[in-house]
Amino acid sequence: MLHWPEGLDVERFLYEYWQKKPVFLPRAIPSFDSPLDPDEVAGLACEPGIESRIVMENSDPPWTLENGPFEPERFGRLPQTGWSLLVQDVDKHVPESNRVRAGFRFLPDWRFDDLMVSFAPPGGSVGPHVDAYDVFLVQGLGRRRWHVDPSPRSRRRIPGTPLDLLADFRAVHEWVAEPGDVLYLPPGAAHHGVALDHCITWSVGFRSPLAADVIAALADTATARAVRYADSDMVPEEAADGLIHDRAVARFRRWLEDAVLHESGCLRETLGCLLTEPKSWLHPPAPEAPVREPGLRDHLDAGGGLSKHPMSLMARSRRERGWTLFANGRALAVDPSLESVAAALCAESAWPAERVSDWLGRPGGSALILDLLADGTLELV
Ligand code: SIN
Ligand code: CO
Repeated sequence: MLHWPEGLDVERFLYEYWQKKPVFLPRAIPSFDSPLDPDEVAGLACEPGIESRIVMENSDPPWTLENGPFEPERFGRLPQTGWSLLVQDVDKHVPESNRVRAGFRFLPDWRFDDLMVSFAPPGGSVGPHVDAYDVFLVQGLGRRRWHVDPSPRSRRRIPGTPLDLLADFRAVHEWVAEPGDVLYLPPGAAHHGVALDHCITWSVGFRSPLAADVIAALADTATARAVRYADSDMVPEEAADGLIHDRAVARFRRWLEDAVLHESGCLRETLGCLLTEPKSWLHPPAPEAPVREPGLRDHLDAGGGLSKHPMSLMARSRRERGWTLFANGRALAVDPSLESVAAALCAESAWPAERVSDWLGRPGGSALILDLLADGTLELV
């Protein structure tokens, strides 16, 4: 949990600031110890399969972007100042880094997107910009001066750079973040953070799906279910020349809401699958050889447990009877007796043999665990 400043707590934060306005939370994570140091951040940026970039401030062109992976020598050739290195999805690549997220569990897990880390020498930044997402910026090492404009009037971009940077940025707030300080920014708040020292900043980023993505996913589920429009409550006035009557529009709205979204369970299932779908390059790989029940039992008898693949995304939602467990974009119906199992699979990341053996004894328990082992969501440890 975060250490809230006097007069602020989760409820008040959600009511006053969440998705509304920036707030600086000094010492919100006391004695914060950055899970990675600058060399380790550079090391990650050299690995294929890990998204990284260097943003550099120049005079002409004004700002440049280089995408990783980088050769280790690249870091020896960087100037003393004026650049930032950023690494995305660190939570999936370095599971221990997830402790940075611990203070933010007051928000739904499915809302979380990724943990990004940045390193900058004194004077380094990524330029003034707005993000489309809510973000908590946790200062990890050194100090960073933040300039923030909660609602920028001008969105004019700096020309001649691939980066979306604001040409007319004017700061309204200034905060200097030290290790353990947290700055919350809602979507659309303009910000510019310049390193004052050798500086590591963690961004705990939250996503909000685009309507287009939800609608496209709904279209896929609806195609499979083929529910068709019906108008058994038609009245004669609806047949005026060429008219799409208000009653018809209202009926479509009700039909979409009741028959398509609600009754068919379409919305719940679509959301669960959409919100747990990993980015394509961050999908847990399926094991080479499938685990079968006798093999699993031998593994548990020998004292081995299970763990969740660090890239696995899981969520759960109630059904009429029991639960649906969502794992990496798939929906699995779960027996009511497995309610606590579904909760444990979502909340925790590893389980000892005795616990898993208990799960296997419940109705549908072994089928569920074998299914999750087969697609790589879970692993034997
Ligand atoms: C950074 O960590 O340097 C950039 C974070 C941000 O401005 O969103
Ligand atoms: Co930003």
